[in-house]
Amino acid sequence: MKGVVLAGGLGTRLLPLTRVTNKHLLPVYNKPMIFYPIQTLVDAGIKDIMIVTGGNNAGDFLRLLGNGEDFGLRQLHYTYQKTEGGIAHALALAEPFVGKDKVVVILGDNFTQSSIKKAVDDFEKQPCGAKIFLKEVSNPQEFGVAVVEGGKVKEIIEKPTVPPTNYAVIGIYMYDRDVFEICKGLKPSARGELEITDVNNEYIQRGTMTYEFLEGWWADCGSFEALLRSNILVAREKGVQI
Ligand code: G1P
Repeated sequence: MKGVVLAGGLGTRLLPLTRVTNKHLLPVYNKPMIFYPIQTLVDAGIKDIMIVTGGNNAGDFLRLLGNGEDFGLRQLHYTYQKTEGGIAHALALAEPFVGKDKVVVILGDNFTQSSIKKAVDDFEKQPCGAKIFLKEVSNPQEFGVAVVEGGKVKEIIEKPTVPPTNYAVIGIYMYDRDVFEICKGLKPSARGELEITDVNNEYIQRGTMTYEFLEGWWADCGSFEALLRSNILVAREKGVQI
């Protein structure tokens, strides 16, 4: 099982914080944001990890993370996204690294203190397809939203104005090797991006998507409010009174 952390993008929702650095290098309490998703992969037993980044600050990732010594790794892999093209575009760049293996993809601004190890172990045994995590939220319109019926995900709608459920699709995805062929067949969405939701809907169509609800808290640091909330959550977890 390989791991891929997606840490590109312009972080425009966080300007001016992101004018001179990459969103995933901003602090969340006492560590740069990207430390958390890397730790989640390492805690799930994944040691072969690639960071996909881009923009003007890509070199800072190398200086910050090196060979992954902070995580007990012997080596980290890196690739560079030259243009902004969406999550599925960034993931497609990891194809030569992932090869024929399965892969856990984690968005560099998503983090959870819950272990994903059991789900990763279950997916290892799943013959083929994909697996996603859902979480009940109060602001589903900000995420991909899943329609679940009879124990199966029927459809995912990206940031719906009128969400059909409160089930957000969180930014941790597991795929078999078909993901790269699926990425190649995608067309840009209305916002001009190759959407990860389109990848997931293709697996749903093929009948090979499984899901589970993530326990514990989950945060996405894409907005000022979410970034602040994440800082507070982590600080409180470390016993800081806020
Ligand atoms: C992305 C995905 C969305 C998912 C979210 C999780 O949205 O497109 O489906 O629910 O990550 O954080 P973004 O925040 O990149 O717009």
